[in-house]
Amino acid sequence: MELFDVYPLFDITIDKGKGCHVWDSEGKEYLDFYGGHAVISVGHAHPHYVDAISTQVAKLGFYSNSVQNPLQEAFASRLGKACGYQDYQLFLINSGAEANENALKLASFYNGRTRILSLEKAFHGRTSLAVEATANPKIIAPVNANGHVTYLPIDDIAAWRREIEKDDVCACIIECIQGVGGIRMVQADFLQQLKTLCEAHNTVLICDEIQCGYGRSGKFFAHQWLGVKPDIITVAKGICNGFPMGAVLISPKFSPVYGQLGTTFGGNHLACAGALAVLDIIEDEDLINNARSVGDYLISELRKLQGETVHIIDIRGRGLMIGIELDIPYKEPRLRLIKEEHIFTGCSGTNVIRLLPPLCVSRNDADRFISSFKKVLQ
Ligand SMILES: Cc1ncc(COP(=O)(O)O)c(C=O)c1O
Repeated sequence: MELFDVYPLFDITIDKGKGCHVWDSEGKEYLDFYGGHAVISVGHAHPHYVDAISTQVAKLGFYSNSVQNPLQEAFASRLGKACGYQDYQLFLINSGAEANENALKLASFYNGRTRILSLEKAFHGRTSLAVEATANPKIIAPVNANGHVTYLPIDDIAAWRREIEKDDVCACIIECIQGVGGIRMVQADFLQQLKTLCEAHNTVLICDEIQCGYGRSGKFFAHQWLGVKPDIITVAKGICNGFPMGAVLISPKFSPVYGQLGTTFGGNHLACAGALAVLDIIEDEDLINNARSVGDYLISELRKLQGETVHIIDIRGRGLMIGIELDIPYKEPRLRLIKEEHIFTGCSGTNVIRLLPPLCVSRNDADRFISSFKKVLQ
């Protein structure tokens, strides 16, 4: 059998990783400024993470959600403390799309409505309602195009108000820093007004923190920069450093109903052990502050570079979620970064380079990226 060929691939096989570095099958080292698509939070092959997962799988990797799982309870309590949402409830699944699917479903069970408002350029995943909430007609299959979603411009509160005042909107779903959309940041003022509108009209506010959350922005959640508490928060990617896991954080105003939500694999023992180890490492190594300080440093060095070189037209982002908009397609500089400088980065659209390194990235790594980036732009 051959693989279903859905991705254009680089001709590179990554074989092992350590911290912010990966090695290919020929032993060549690369700096990972992509984090495997913002997934690697605490660094590749962290010994504490490896130990937690290995010990757990040797003991019990999985058992069904029909029995008590103290690891889930331990994780819910630790996560609540780490992010400051101790009064929220936790539902565990296996991916980002699943987290959004369940968040939207919960919102609809809550207020009985079916309309969703989403941002232009939004990406929320590839399953049924998550993909419909994704503003990219190319990936919405006819069976998913059910007319539930209206896409609205970022920060245009008047446009959002017009829809919410119709009193039929189930939920607004927002990435406070859009990832796939090209590192576009929602303004505090917009989100605060949106929250007030949602409260007044019984609409649920969902923040998709799958890419921008879990410490990446320099706070636990990106929305925490904006002074708003969403009704539902979705996370995945960095939560288990590459082991598939997603989560929905649910405000106390929602009451669980047996049978409404469920999952076979979600919250399994192995995932919870890995996720607990990730929180240990984030705390022990002060990784959220590291994300903020190395991110600030990168942004200020990139701004200097913008003054010294051609092609950079905008630098956006917070912490370790940075977009560099170029006046040329990203294709050639990104490929040269990989082939000549041995640095992986992400990308967006046609001309944005996206930086999403692990949260343990150092200033030295940042310096290496800046000097390599300067070379490939010349
Ligand atoms: C903001 C956002 N939401 C949802 C998803 C979907 O996550 P997954 O691929 O784990 O389903 C992604 C993935 O890139 C994302 O960036």
